[in-house]
Amino acid sequence: MMNNIVLIGFMGSGKTTIGKALEKKIGISFVDTDKLIENYEKCRISEIFNNKGEKYFRRIETEILKKLSRADGINIISTGGGIITNSENILLLRQLGTVVYLRIKAETVVKRLDGDVTRPLLAGEDKFAKIEILMNDRREAYEKTADVIIDVDDISVEEVVSRIVEKVLDNSTV
Ligand code: S3P
Repeated sequence: MMNNIVLIGFMGSGKTTIGKALEKKIGISFVDTDKLIENYEKCRISEIFNNKGEKYFRRIETEILKKLSRADGINIISTGGGIITNSENILLLRQLGTVVYLRIKAETVVKRLDGDVTRPLLAGEDKFAKIEILMNDRREAYEKTADVIIDVDDISVEEVVSRIVEKVLDNSTV
């Protein structure tokens, strides 16, 4: 197993924000699978979904994880919310390092993503229902993939970061 810190969780759970804050705090470089996909495809996530569909996006997501698992060095890796919908990805994520699940309630996601237009899977009417359906589908996969679970609804970015440092770094060889 590699020693990366891998952040998983639903859209809006703060993976990117926490990843960047953690990078600042501990000086391990941060990468984001969605950003790597956008760079690789030279296209926004929403455009990939519109032009080529979700299946294609998921294929690239797995390719990116494979690339990361061949890379040297240690990174903080934040991932797209649906990355755990593919069982091959779950194995790759677990091989990459310690998986931290930022767990969030549907109510909190609705509040945080009010007005967001960057998530194709939540576009259109009744965001709350869409979130609940996806969350119910994914809950088990997030939990089984995780080494550490942090409930993020009521705590600050700094608090999430310090819990990760405490739970992941204080008793590892990173
Ligand atoms: C997705 C989450 C998004 C992005 C894509 C699909 C999902 O990432 O990968 O829109 O299936 O939950 P974030 O979790 O960073 O929003």
